[in-house]
Amino acid sequence: MPITYTNAHVNEVPAVYIIHENADWTGPLFAALDAIGVAYHDWNLANVNIDLSKNAPAGVFYNRMSASSHTRGNRFAPEMTAGVLAWLEGQGRFVINGRQALHLEISKMIQYAALRHAGLNVPQTVVAITAEDIIEAFSSFGGKPIITKHNRAGKGLGVALFRSKPALVEYVNGEDFDPSVDGITLVQRYIASPEQLITRVEFVGRKFVYAVRVDTSNGFELCPADVCALDASTCMADADQRFAFDIDGSFSKSALGQLLIPKMQDVMAREGLDVAAFEFITDEDGVPYVYDINTNTNYNSDAEQRAGISAMAVLASYLGSKLANIEVKAAA
Ligand SMILES: Nc1ncnc2c1ncn2[C@@H]1O[C@H](COP(=O)(O)OP(=O)(O)O)[C@@H](O)[C@H]1O
Ligand SMILES: [Mg+2]
Repeated sequence: MPITYTNAHVNEVPAVYIIHENADWTGPLFAALDAIGVAYHDWNLANVNIDLSKNAPAGVFYNRMSASSHTRGNRFAPEMTAGVLAWLEGQGRFVINGRQALHLEISKMIQYAALRHAGLNVPQTVVAITAEDIIEAFSSFGGKPIITKHNRAGKGLGVALFRSKPALVEYVNGEDFDPSVDGITLVQRYIASPEQLITRVEFVGRKFVYAVRVDTSNGFELCPADVCALDASTCMADADQRFAFDIDGSFSKSALGQLLIPKMQDVMAREGLDVAAFEFITDEDGVPYVYDINTNTNYNSDAEQRAGISAMAVLASYLGSKLANIEVKAAA
């Protein structure tokens, strides 16, 4: 059933509208909203029919569009979302993770520009479109290992490690090579983490929620969502806990946390991100490199249960508080 939107909705009570394209990822959020009695509507923008001449409903609009939508058959959902967010923003609707956030979600190049602006280290990255230029990029790294990845990615699309140029040539010219949906491949310095882990820092409403450490000793961590842990074909994270997620309760007080958190919050403020996760990796000299920002964030329930925290509950209550503001304004 498409979202068919007409003026008949105008008199509806204000609600939180969840904008997304993947029903598998909305269940935990809907449950958290139900648990605290926040009214919401499911706006799956893979399937829409919206009359742009009508007024948007009253409420809070939370954009969770994903950069990897094309891998679920929803190739044009981000383009549709950009237009719908413009329609909402043009009518002064309160949008969480608006158009600017969407641009950043679907381009690592845009993420890296924002990270650098805030003074965060990003691994050296060369961008290229043609096979020839991707191969040529290898020479920029002084023979050190590199990893390739898609500019529009999520869930580790196109992530592969190369220690030599011939191996890269074989991959790029071979059948396994899968170009990014936007045509841009990143060739990036491979950061070898002596601890074999990456850290993902979660924010809701630009406030730090927690940092989760992810064991990468068996390969690359790709996605923390519970649904991905069950479905190897979606996300490559094994059901047998191949990638252990652990919340680091001391991160915000640590020297590293104190250095990184305010800079990440700067990125959020400048780029209009309200809900986001930043991933970083620390090299053998202890230098942290941030390499990914996720605006469509998912949480690992095993790690959360052990730590006694639920980011989804924090998110639901944040959405509820924004909705309460709208209701107060409407009544005033
Ligand atoms: N420069 C890097 N050095 C080492 N490992 C990396 C690097 N970039 C990415 N990885 C690994 O690959 C995973 C996926 O890469 P990422 O940039 O997060 O792409 P995606 O947007 O698809 O999640 C990361 O979580 C990390 O484990
Ligand atoms: Mg990532």
